[in-house]
Amino acid sequence: MSHAISTGRGLDEAARALLYTEARTANSFAPTPVSDDELAQIWELARWAPTAANTQPLRVLFVRTDEGRARLVEHMNEGNKAKTASAPAVAVLAVDPRFHDHIPALLPFRPELRDVFEANEPMRKQTGDFNAALQAGYFILAVRSLGLVAGPMAGFDAEGIDKEFFPDGQWHSTLVVNIGHPGENPWFDRLPRLDPEESVSWA
Ligand SMILES: Cc1cc2nc3c(=O)[nH]c(=O)nc-3n(C[C@H](O)[C@H](O)[C@H](O)COP(=O)(O)O)c2cc1C
Repeated sequence: MSHAISTGRGLDEAARALLYTEARTANSFAPTPVSDDELAQIWELARWAPTAANTQPLRVLFVRTDEGRARLVEHMNEGNKAKTASAPAVAVLAVDPRFHDHIPALLPFRPELRDVFEANEPMRKQTGDFNAALQAGYFILAVRSLGLVAGPMAGFDAEGIDKEFFPDGQWHSTLVVNIGHPGENPWFDRLPRLDPEESVSWA
């Protein structure tokens, strides 16, 4: 395995634009398919990004059949239905509230942290939600890094999706991400970002 981290060079300008400055949120998708291999590669990248105590609370359901998409569209907000219907693939990102059961394997030098989380529901919920949200961000950037576009959406009936796709009550949906190639009129006007003067301070 090569160790890009040791080169000190970073990504070139084009790669930074692909991930950040020129990347856009897609609102419609071309019929170009996205393969299961590409979807697997998204997670193969995203799963390496860091989480607190290596807890990794995010779970992913890839929906890419017509039948699965139709079941999912039912639970999207009205304004989001057409977007998901046009996406060749969709990821339902979910939190596993029992993420701490994996701690003995994921943090072998401190297995007792599992029991600390088991005994402290507020800490468990805060850690799960925060780190799952972090991982959702990593996920979107992984989509972009493969030359695909993402359309993240929080507008859906989470209870409905959970009943439909996670009936054993194990996972709780947190973000739906349309994935594919841009379709017709895929972009809204670019919205402004806060200036660094408004969002960054220095000490
Ligand atoms: C967590 C999250 C939730 C979002 N929910 C929705 C949504 O429900 N419907 C929608 O059309 N866009 C949704 N968006 C898209 C954002 O409005 C969009 O990514 C943002 O305005 C930036 O657009 P740009 O990447 O084209 O600059 C969501 C984005 C994020 C990150």
